Amino acid sequence: MSQPDIITLNQKFAIAGQLEFAAEANGMAVARIANHHAQSTIALQGAHILAFQPNGEAPLIWLSPAAKLAPGKSIRGGVPVCWPWFGAHATASGFPAHGFARTVPWQVTASTALPDGSTRIAFELPQSAIPSAQWPHACRVRLIVTAGKTLAVELITENTGNAPFKIGEALHTYFAISDVDNVRITGLEDCVYLDKVDDWKRKTQAGAITITSEVDRLYVNTEKDCLIEDAGLRRRIRIAKRGSRSTVVWNPWIEKAAKMGDFGSDTGYRGMACVESVNAAENVVSVAPGATHALSVVYSTEKI
Ligand code: BG6
Repeated sequence: MSQPDIITLNQKFAIAGQLEFAAEANGMAVARIANHHAQSTIALQGAHILAFQPNGEAPLIWLSPAAKLAPGKSIRGGVPVCWPWFGAHATASGFPAHGFARTVPWQVTASTALPDGSTRIAFELPQSAIPSAQWPHACRVRLIVTAGKTLAVELITENTGNAPFKIGEALHTYFAISDVDNVRITGLEDCVYLDKVDDWKRKTQAGAITITSEVDRLYVNTEKDCLIEDAGLRRRIRIAKRGSRSTVVWNPWIEKAAKMGDFGSDTGYRGMACVESVNAAENVVSVAPGATHALSVVYSTEKI
C-alpha cells in the first residue's frame, strides 16, 4: 500500500493515543493499537491479527519470525481468517487452502474508542477482492476486532443474494506458549474428531490433549470453551466462542514444520499451538438469502 493510503487511513480512522496506521518496512499496511489494556497489530491484508499482548503480560499470539509478510501470501502465525472454506476446497484442488480471504486486502470501515478503554476496528472484504470463479455468491463479509483486556474477534457473513450458500470458516489462531511440553488443552474431552494424521479416521478424545507428535484434529459438534493451560508461563488461555461448532487443534511437529520452511528455526514449532474456532466438515454453515451468520471468539488469559 502506498504512503497516501496510509495518510488517508490515519485521517479517517486514527484515534489519538490508541490507533494509528503505518506501513511495515516491506510496505505492508498495518493498524497498530496501543491502549490502556493491550498492544495489537493487524495487517490489512487478510484483516490478519499479527500480534496481541495484554500490557504487562507475555504475548498471547504467536507470529513466526520467518513469516512471509508479502502481498498475496499467507502469513505463518497470528490469526488467519479462513473463509469461505476451511482446508482444501471440497471439489476444486486448484483453489487456495483455507479460502482466499486471508491473502487479499481488506478495507477498514470504522474505528471506535470504547468507554472501557478498548479499541474496536472494523474491516470489510471488498467485492473487488472476491474471485468470482471461486465464489460466485453475493455477500458482505466483515471482521470486527476489539482489543482490550481481552481480544474479541467477530467474523460476520451476510448473504446479500437470492440463493442460499454454504461456508466453511475459521479463526485459525496461533497461540504463543512457553513450550509444547508445558501445555495441555482442555475443553474437548469426549468430543468426536477427524484425525488428519491418521487418514481422517473418526475418533473420540480421551482426556486433555497433550502435544508429543504432529497433531491435526478437527473436532466436530463442539461449542465449548477451550483452555490452554501453560505451566511454563503460569497462565491459562481461554477461548470462548459462539457460532462455531468445530474446533481444530494443530501443531505440525518437527518434519512438517521443517517442510513448511516458515517456522523460523528447527524448534519454532515448540512455541506455538493452534486452537482454531471453526465451522467445517459436517458443521459447514448454510446462510439463507438475507440472513447473517457470525462466528465470534473472545480470547482471555488467567493466571495459574
Ligand atoms: C490447519 C490444518 O488448520 O492449518 C492443517 O488443519 C494445516 O492441516 C494448517 O497444515 C496450516 O495450513 P496452511 O495452509 O496455513 O499451511
